[in-house]
Amino acid sequence: MPTSRIDLDEPVLDVDDIQGNILTAFNTACEQHVFLRVVDAERFPTWVARVAETVTTMRATWERRQRRQRWGPLVAIWFSYSGLLKLTETAREIQDVPFKEGLPSRSRLLGDPVAPDSPGACANWRVGGPDRVPDALLVVASEEPITDGLATAGLADRCVEVLHEEVCARLPHGNEHFGFREPVSQPGVRGRVGFGESAFLTPSLDPTRPAEGAPGQSLVWPGEFVFGYPTQDNLDRIRPGPRSRAGPAWARNGSLVVVRRINQDVAAFNRFAGTVSRRLGQIPELAGTTVERVRAQLVGRWPSGVAVVHGHECDPGAAGADVNDFGYVGKWGAAGDDAAGLVCPQAAHIRKAFPRDHETSMDTAESMETHRLLRRGIPFGAVDTDGERGLMFVAFQTSLERQFEFVQRSWLNNPRLRTACDGHDPLVGQCNRGMTGPQERYFAFRYRRADGLVRTEQVVMREEWTTPTGGGYFFAPSLSALRGILSGRA
Ligand code: HEM
Repeated sequence: MPTSRIDLDEPVLDVDDIQGNILTAFNTACEQHVFLRVVDAERFPTWVARVAETVTTMRATWERRQRRQRWGPLVAIWFSYSGLLKLTETAREIQDVPFKEGLPSRSRLLGDPVAPDSPGACANWRVGGPDRVPDALLVVASEEPITDGLATAGLADRCVEVLHEEVCARLPHGNEHFGFREPVSQPGVRGRVGFGESAFLTPSLDPTRPAEGAPGQSLVWPGEFVFGYPTQDNLDRIRPGPRSRAGPAWARNGSLVVVRRINQDVAAFNRFAGTVSRRLGQIPELAGTTVERVRAQLVGRWPSGVAVVHGHECDPGAAGADVNDFGYVGKWGAAGDDAAGLVCPQAAHIRKAFPRDHETSMDTAESMETHRLLRRGIPFGAVDTDGERGLMFVAFQTSLERQFEFVQRSWLNNPRLRTACDGHDPLVGQCNRGMTGPQERYFAFRYRRADGLVRTEQVVMREEWTTPTGGGYFFAPSLSALRGILSGRA
């Protein structure tokens, strides 16, 4: 089996055609997300031609990162299905069904709340609900706060109206609102950014581990995130699978984007952790369980990013470069075998969202890599505010159904992923709250009794500490598509 990355002939990525922030993150301190609706369809293609001159390429984003430069603003444009249809009839050839149906139509499938008065029901979202589906989403990123993204990018025009603007910014402590470092784990993307033999987008830091970028970071073929490149083979973690195709030829070098505006109620999350720590503390084997430990077990990592599976009693602080060098059943990296979930609960957020070496009844270790996401989320709202705050969850992929929707539906929302009582992902696992019938989310802690038997302590999660309040499914076209067919020039 060829393991050398040179033998595998990883493709050269079209860095001048792929938009920035997909394969290389913008990573700026601030972003403004401007959700737009078209009000003059005739002028829209001309506006798109202007946008094409402003959009930041993958090359610019990559060079900025290499040189640690602080340029700005950086611009990205994504279109919903309705937006693309206003530009070309050939958008109908796109094959991805969830993209064409749109996020509000898929909301119930994703487990979102359905009670008519719930702020999480899609009809009540701030943006992206059935009557407020945007045609486009403009992202303007910079190191300084931006108040008017359209004007900053020089793209104000009477053909588009602003449905909603979200001012997003990394928090002073650098973590998300619950206080955890994020992101820590991302797939390493295969492919080269130039023709040099070693110009890999994600270099292998340890030459003895050529299937990884940083230790424990799987390398994934770029067709999982951008159309037109080899995908992951679901039987072989190393060799490439078929090329990803969106449908129309112009969709090459494009990507599908999920955006979820998720409110976070930090006090409710901490309240739950406090209640659970007191309850667990009454069990002799778990006496001394702290709130910090419960919080970490719910996420699967300590606030610093160190994985719980390593078995520390408290946060060891500053995670190193090998922060992802672990699995759950002892097949990957440094951590031991925790198949029973005694150290890191089975339903902990990161264990559910990517089970690593712990195969499921649905997935082998190889096919696990076909559900990966490139996450580019950023918080909105201030720390310690009484107002709204949360995460603007953003992720790129080439199949919404096999990637984002699978992770949400089959892993995070599935309380029986391994055993009958593992529970729901405590951060964003959902079960259509508000429907009639027993709709309760729960979470299981396991521990070993003094007599050696494994016991389960199941806690019901009655409060809601995350609520979906907006978003959409989008397509991020290539620069050539923006300059050509989408601006009426092809
Ligand atoms: C308010 C909402 C959310 C919060 C606060 C949150 C928080 C976190 C945190 C703290 C981590 C650990 C850092 C890391 O490993 O990168 C993480 C990882 C992750 N999250 Fe979330 N998350 C949220 C929503 C979601 C959603 C909606 C999904 C997908 C449907 C998701 C998928 C993932 C994945 C795939 C990982 C990486 C797991 C791994 O590779 O080990 N998250 N998240």
